[in-house]
Amino acid sequence: MQNLFTRRLQSDVRTSYHKGLSAGDPYSLLRPRSVLLLSFTALFLFSYGGIIRFENNAVNRSEDVWLGSRETINTLSPQSSVLIAERGYRRMQFTNLLQLEALAREVLEPSSFDYIAGGADDEVSLRRNREDWDRITLRPRVLMDVSRVDTATIVLGTPISMPVMLAPASGHKLCCSEGEVATARAAAAAGTIMALSTVSTVSLEDVAAVVDAPRWFQLYVYKDREVTRNLVTRAEAAGFRALCVTVDVPIIGNRERDMRNNFSFPADMPLANFVDMQLQNMPTGVVGSGLGAYISSKWDPALSWADIDWLRSVTALPVVLKGILTAEDATLAAEHGAAAIIVSNHGGRQLDSVSSGIAALPEVVDAVGGRVEVLVDGGVRRGTDVLKALALGARAVLIGRPYMYGLALDGEAGVLRVLEMLRAEVSLAMALSGRPNIQSINATLVQRG
Ligand SMILES: Cc1cc2nc3c(=O)[nH]c(=O)nc-3n(C[C@H](O)[C@H](O)[C@H](O)COP(=O)(O)O)c2cc1C
Repeated sequence: MQNLFTRRLQSDVRTSYHKGLSAGDPYSLLRPRSVLLLSFTALFLFSYGGIIRFENNAVNRSEDVWLGSRETINTLSPQSSVLIAERGYRRMQFTNLLQLEALAREVLEPSSFDYIAGGADDEVSLRRNREDWDRITLRPRVLMDVSRVDTATIVLGTPISMPVMLAPASGHKLCCSEGEVATARAAAAAGTIMALSTVSTVSLEDVAAVVDAPRWFQLYVYKDREVTRNLVTRAEAAGFRALCVTVDVPIIGNRERDMRNNFSFPADMPLANFVDMQLQNMPTGVVGSGLGAYISSKWDPALSWADIDWLRSVTALPVVLKGILTAEDATLAAEHGAAAIIVSNHGGRQLDSVSSGIAALPEVVDAVGGRVEVLVDGGVRRGTDVLKALALGARAVLIGRPYMYGLALDGEAGVLRVLEMLRAEVSLAMALSGRPNIQSINATLVQRG
């Protein structure tokens, strides 16, 4: 499992090397047989409706995966061309999570892409979410016997195979017709926890019925407390392990891309948890964001710490508070009985100009002093990011956009591939930094000051 992706990648590389570009023979493409083969393939591709058809190895995904148009063939690497020559398709080509956004842009409906990729205002915090990881320097140890590396850890009492979880994200059917079921299956296959959004496009019961694996339910608090209570009760009954209350959306952030696109979930993509309550449709055809209109009419801007106490009184589930960025709020979270905190700026989608999750992590960790578990999200794209977060006191990290892109590109298999790629990077970074298990990752791994 650990090296699933690496093995696939190696076998791809081997295949192309042996059959096309043999090692030490860089000019093999120029040989008459190769030229003939490539010409034939190019002819086939261009006669095929003017569009290059790439592999759809999605599991249970009905639509084809289109990774390019006539123009983009010019951008393909020689290796990709060889793969096309050999198989008539191109695999979803990426060697790290940072490449996913550009690939996903090719396959997503533009307003859906903007909804997923975008942030608030000038997207300052969105950019910080990437830049701030790069400011942290690692201090590796050597001669530590890293012949075996174990990425397994425990979050809120649940063992998971690596310290990476799937952050709650709305609207998985924008990416893939199976929606949250595909994501939940991939999380289960990777041995980690998915947090299902309130705003899911498959109901919490349907996800629970299909995938028997530890899950969290992410809660947005509705003005109508009976609606909220209903969600909490159902999540508990369906076996979700924690209630992840998002506290940074009293009002939706100023997401200008969505305003420009008049973005709404399509009418045939209802908010599946609300069908029985007649709250399932966002307004469509409005000027500005239909999502914004839905949120301001239904979610409660009056949410306060007293509501956290109320939520704890109506559920036995551990309460996780997502969206905390300061020591003050972290202290209050601990005082109000939160079991965990997710240090997060909501992927740069709420208040702009706030710090990234990773920059805020140390003050939150200091404030809670071990009383609650601390997790962090925002811009996690590399295995080294995960190590940095753990070294600064996080129990685990969550990823959002990368798995949404994987879902868009290749359904369940795409999400799994994203997770396995990150796992391989975490494992490699642990080996190269002389930290063979999660317990050995501590503050000495990062430079302070
Ligand atoms: C398309 C999208 C939808 C999201 N929906 C939710 C949501 O329903 N609830 C929530 O608490 N956070 C939501 N988030 C925020 C994520 O949980 C997470 O904080 C963020 O995506 C992490 O940053 P990353 O995307 O850079 O990994 C969403 C993020 C994205 C990109």
